[in-house]
Amino acid sequence: MSSDAQTARRILLLENIHPVAREALLREGHEVTLLAHSPDRAELGQLLQKHDVVGLRSKTRLTKDLLAQAPHLALIGCFCIGTDQVDLAAANALGIPVFNAPYSNTRSVAEMVLAEVIMLARQLGDRNMAAHRGQWLKSADGSREVRGKTLGIVGYGHIGSQVSVLAEAFGLRVLFYDVVKKLPLGNSQSVDSLAELLRRSDFVSLHVPDTRATRGLMGAAELKLMRPGSALINASRGTVVDIPALAEAIRSGHLSGAAVDVFPEEPASNSEGFKSELQGLPNVILTPHIGGSTLEAQESIGLEVAASFIAYLRDGHTLGAVNFPPLALPRQHPDATRIANVHRNVPGVLGSINSIVSELGANIQGQALATDEQIGFVVMDVEVQDAGELLKRVSALATSIRTSLLP
Ligand code: NAI
Repeated sequence: MSSDAQTARRILLLENIHPVAREALLREGHEVTLLAHSPDRAELGQLLQKHDVVGLRSKTRLTKDLLAQAPHLALIGCFCIGTDQVDLAAANALGIPVFNAPYSNTRSVAEMVLAEVIMLARQLGDRNMAAHRGQWLKSADGSREVRGKTLGIVGYGHIGSQVSVLAEAFGLRVLFYDVVKKLPLGNSQSVDSLAELLRRSDFVSLHVPDTRATRGLMGAAELKLMRPGSALINASRGTVVDIPALAEAIRSGHLSGAAVDVFPEEPASNSEGFKSELQGLPNVILTPHIGGSTLEAQESIGLEVAASFIAYLRDGHTLGAVNFPPLALPRQHPDATRIANVHRNVPGVLGSINSIVSELGANIQGQALATDEQIGFVVMDVEVQDAGELLKRVSALATSIRTSLLP
């Protein structure tokens, strides 16, 4: 079990994380090392010996054994959306919360989708490629305004609802379908079924997560329900659309086009080739999973994860952590000592901690506990004479995994 009472942490940021993160953490008085590369296993193992916090992007893998050999590591940030590069269960068992930045690129995706609606309506992809080849395709055939057309949004979450707002500004009518009841923004309307949405929309844009229920959500039968001449946009997950069925719907002329940013199999890096049955089909825009890839999103990711680091290191807030019980205890007693304890989730832990507080003649002014299957996380504000002794005794409990005094 580990215990500490430091305020300045040694923070390691890898893989060229946007410098705004470093600046925010330096302002808090932490020591920050920013490296451009993703260290190999051996180098990473050594670096982790000397740091309390690590921030990484998608290339650095934090495996169970690397985590087990990092005695000071107390906090991890994935400066991206995905978190599968970190062994989340191992980090949880060690009392290490992992944060990511799920919503920093929402707007970037929404803007790209709107651009694609217009590109599809005007066949801009094909006309652009023809002009590059030296062909002059000046004609109004098949080109339409988007004003007054209907956009059907499947999945009205963060991205879907942003798309809704931007689309209405272009004069589109917006319908949406979600499995959860959602407040319609602006003049948008919810519909009761996917089938109804597909039948009524000129453009259908998918914004659902990858779940068992959304895999193959748009197969041959669903594509058939779409209006003749309508177009499909997928910037959600590659598993959601049956690509051969979509290719057939385009080849047969049932759909007038598609914009696809995500694929069932995507190249692991820019040096690998890319193959898809959709290549070469008319009015089909293919992009390499770049919906969320903008400089603004990178900066916003830097700020979002740095803010989570600060909230955890200062106050023990874990809201938004992907592997940890969610907890945020407001600071109502500025003079109190705040202590945070991660423990094995077994009966009686809170009782043992509270007994220590009363043995020390201290007074609990605020306390919050959150648990998951493996661990419990408690944050307390205590009026206590000897905070060091409190830290020592709580961290010595057999159930304690990690205990710290917060500044
Ligand atoms: P979100 O979680 O905020 O919204 C998803 C919505 O889909 C929720 O409202 C949920 O209730 C709804 N939903 C779930 N299952 C459904 C179903 N079977 N039918 C209808 N609605 C369903 O997620 P967010 O942030 O809006 O992201 C949406 C998708 O976009 C995700 O798949 C995400 O991975 C992807 N994404 C893609 C990016 C890119 O670069 N192309 C970048 C960022 C996110």
